[in-house]
Amino acid sequence: MPITVNAGQRIFKLDTPNTSYICAVSDEPGYPGHVYYGPRIVDEDVTYLLRTAENPYVPTQNKRDKLSFMDCYPFEYPAHGTGDFRECALKVRTEEGYTACELHYTGYSIENSVSGPMPGVYGENGQVLAIELKDECLGLKVLLKYTVFDDCDAIIRHTEIISADRTIYLERALSASFDMDNDDYELVTLNGTWARERHIERKPIAHGFQGVYSGRGETSHQHQPFLGIVSKDCTYVSGEAIGVNLIYSGNFYAGVYEGQFDNLRVMIGINPEDFEWKLEAGESFITPQAVLVYSKEGLGGMSRAFHDLYRGHLIRSSWKDKPRPILINNWEATYFDFNEEKLLAIAKEAAESGIEMLVMDDGWFGRRNDDNSSLGDWFVNEDKLKGGLKKLVDGVNALGLKFGIWFEPEMISPDSDLYRTHPDWAIAVPGRTAGLARNQYVLDISRKEVRDHVFKVLSDILDNANIEYVKWDMNRPLSDLASLELPADCQKELSHRYVLGVYELQGRLMERYPGLLLENCSGGGARYDAGMLCYSPQIWCSDDTDAIERLMIQEGTALVYPLSTMGAHVSDCPNHTVGRVTPFETRGYVALAGTFGYELDITRIPAQDRAMIPGQVKMYHMYHELVAAGDYYRIASYSENRLYDSWMCVKKDKSGALLTFIQVMGRANCHSRRIKLQGLDPEKTYRIYRFDMENVREKPYGPEKAYRGDTLMNAGIIINNLWGDYKGILLHVISE
Ligand code: GLA
Repeated sequence: MPITVNAGQRIFKLDTPNTSYICAVSDEPGYPGHVYYGPRIVDEDVTYLLRTAENPYVPTQNKRDKLSFMDCYPFEYPAHGTGDFRECALKVRTEEGYTACELHYTGYSIENSVSGPMPGVYGENGQVLAIELKDECLGLKVLLKYTVFDDCDAIIRHTEIISADRTIYLERALSASFDMDNDDYELVTLNGTWARERHIERKPIAHGFQGVYSGRGETSHQHQPFLGIVSKDCTYVSGEAIGVNLIYSGNFYAGVYEGQFDNLRVMIGINPEDFEWKLEAGESFITPQAVLVYSKEGLGGMSRAFHDLYRGHLIRSSWKDKPRPILINNWEATYFDFNEEKLLAIAKEAAESGIEMLVMDDGWFGRRNDDNSSLGDWFVNEDKLKGGLKKLVDGVNALGLKFGIWFEPEMISPDSDLYRTHPDWAIAVPGRTAGLARNQYVLDISRKEVRDHVFKVLSDILDNANIEYVKWDMNRPLSDLASLELPADCQKELSHRYVLGVYELQGRLMERYPGLLLENCSGGGARYDAGMLCYSPQIWCSDDTDAIERLMIQEGTALVYPLSTMGAHVSDCPNHTVGRVTPFETRGYVALAGTFGYELDITRIPAQDRAMIPGQVKMYHMYHELVAAGDYYRIASYSENRLYDSWMCVKKDKSGALLTFIQVMGRANCHSRRIKLQGLDPEKTYRIYRFDMENVREKPYGPEKAYRGDTLMNAGIIINNLWGDYKGILLHVISE
């Protein structure tokens, strides 16, 4: 069993296949402390790492200097106001306005099944440890919960806070915090903006606070709820990497504080800014789950642990392990300018090429001919779609294609029937004109009546025709926060209640339409997070579909999230976002690293590109399983070398692998490039084949012989220079 408790010594050890996580309780009054997180170790007492013996100010013996102790003890869940002056995980306020809190250990329990909050992890083969802490003065109970599975190198933490007998306000309630020595670690974060999401940044950790957050009501284009704490020598292949990620889709806070004794406090949870939660007597608050991963195989090992956990224990959709239909989306093909004839023309050519689903994007409802109106009016615009939605869907189905549709359910345009009827449903502060973004407001879906309305209009559409896919978009952040239903002392609950509202709606959707394929989206990738993955097995990665820009976006995304979740499409050139022209073939190789689809007007693209689509469709069917279910290895990074990019997907049983190599910049007069493969079985022998896009078949690559896995991983293979920029090749490595 993954959880071992030494009840006498009050030591708690969580083991995963390759890692151990240990926390323990100090002498009375019993402070929970963080002991160890690293490679798996045997059950030996290592509580000396708490360093209580070194500290002359042990509270039991020396009450005089309690604060010195409080300010350096490695607290497992630090509370505010009683002497730990570092960043805290918990801050409460009483009705009198007092903020001091001190948590003492009172007991523990273990459950042999995993039934945490939604969104959250699930699975048969897991256990949950609950460490119970109390502040007797406040009548406050805090449960630190740890979930572990026996097949995954991840520790999942969350916290439940219960007020026994009075009203308490939570000003800060993080999901997890732990202290560790700073062995010269560096901090990795994922940052960006619209169309440039999740670029990897790495910097030394210095004294004080450093971190990232969102205050936009959604995860954001700008930052990710992720921290990598990595050793200086950490690469994709080796070195230490601790990854922390939050299963949440709203305002988050993720940071590291380096204190006076050079040790680190790592924290993640709901952003305390714009957050407060009122707990009345007997009520409890459950934080989102935080995922912790430790790897000695560098960033690559960290990514694979996240991928395994999310594919095996988080994503719930019935599409989780199924090949996703190759879709064609009309957004970049037509924007708002389409009708049923145009869509059917696209569908017809798409069907002839082997594409499997047509997705009708923004512009099919109300009077929406641009982005200035109609959000909220989810009835079909019959001027555009003559004969209505069902007729169109039946027409598309008759061509052999599935049909998918775009919604932006959380939004309301000022120019909409919905706004004219319910102006009070838009989030705004009474007496103040709320700010618009993309000419739209946000619906207050923290309110049940609003959610019920949204669900009804969505299901009316879905019940009316054979719709098998929904793209759920969200195109502006939350501002001007106020909810008409909340009393003054609960207004700061809105942002979190909003996120819970999104979860409730998507949960209801999946319950009523279990076969529906849901893809989340937010102006591209502003809601790319593990919370959303609980409801949708794929998320639109970015509005930037340029193959070269995508290399960096997809590298950053894959650092945490499985390739099977990355919405990636081949689009037309010059690319609509950056104006770059890349070969159609390369666009296909880059999109193959995600869910694979098209976002172009197939009836108008150049004939030679159009002719390549059936081959690309075949390519997807040949390799998607390796991509979706395999282990991901990063071979080279264009964001670092500015010349080329390369990654591999290796079958779990190591019988095959797919290597993608993209030469971004051609170079004059230089040697061919040596690439060292990863993840193979050192003792198996492999042959290498190149995918020949022109003839849509595999051809032997390099010398026609088999090589052992260790040779391919140590000596590597040669990739000859390709003629031109933005060129790519796919190599299939097959064991004999
Ligand atoms: C967002 C999405 C796009 C598209 C548009 C439609 O920007 O990310 O893919 O759906 O909205 O307005």
